Amino acid sequence: MRVLNYRKYKLFAEGLSKEAGTILLNHLGKIKKISYKSKIDLVTDVDTKCERLILKRIKDVFSEHEIISEEAGTVGSNSSDYQWLIDPLDGTTNYAHSFGFFCVSIALLYKGEVIVGVVYDPLRDELFSASKDKGSYLNGKRISVSSIKSLKRSLLATGFPYSLGKLLQRNMDNFKRFILKSQAVRRAGSAALDLCYVAAGRFDGFWELGLHPWDTAAGVLIVQEAGGKVTTFNNKQFNPFLKEIVATNGSLHNKIIKVLR
Ligand code: IPD
Ligand code: CA
Ligand code: CA
Repeated sequence: MRVLNYRKYKLFAEGLSKEAGTILLNHLGKIKKISYKSKIDLVTDVDTKCERLILKRIKDVFSEHEIISEEAGTVGSNSSDYQWLIDPLDGTTNYAHSFGFFCVSIALLYKGEVIVGVVYDPLRDELFSASKDKGSYLNGKRISVSSIKSLKRSLLATGFPYSLGKLLQRNMDNFKRFILKSQAVRRAGSAALDLCYVAAGRFDGFWELGLHPWDTAAGVLIVQEAGGKVTTFNNKQFNPFLKEIVATNGSLHNKIIKVLR
């Protein structure tokens, strides 16, 4: 019974991410308003336009569910077993500069466990999706993590927090360590897509500090269902409400953990 429900939710989230992605595509290069949440953390009128659509659709169909969305915060009942985690536009800084690496990220949790994850990149028309125990897919085709076992041969990814304090310095140090130990490190600016690229075997590993639940929830399930491993820096079980994340192809996990501080 639960399996059937997962399918229903996944189809709903896939359709919704495509609808929201179309808004992103139609407004690319036509932003009307930018405001600043902190010194470098910005939000555009397109983030909120996209979010309004997503919230409306979820409320129309699943009125009893709780929603946590980046710009709107917590919406709806907090006694529901179902919780949607939404990033209407992951990669806002990229989007504001028309740098083509951004997406919509939608996850559904049941009793705190992610059961559906969907990430849509509208520019490439790439739809990454997974449901618990049912594998990960890119545009309907099964995907899996890479088989690279050597750190020297690996392509890694990370991101940097908007807060320009201790976390930033800590990750600068990690970045330097991995530049010296891997083939290369990328900082592309969308954590949700970085995770999907690990799932699809394009990146071999990803780490970041200071992320939010809406950045990671969908991508984490997509990595796990593609055969990858996701933990904290201490190799403890990850959940989207934790701030440290390491996601890898599995084979490289312990090697990456050893380098991280
Ligand atoms: C950001 C992106 C970026 C990561 C930041 C996030 P936003 O999300 O995922 O890659 O490094 O920490 O906040 O603000 O573009 O939704
Ligand atoms: Ca985000
Ligand atoms: Ca966002």
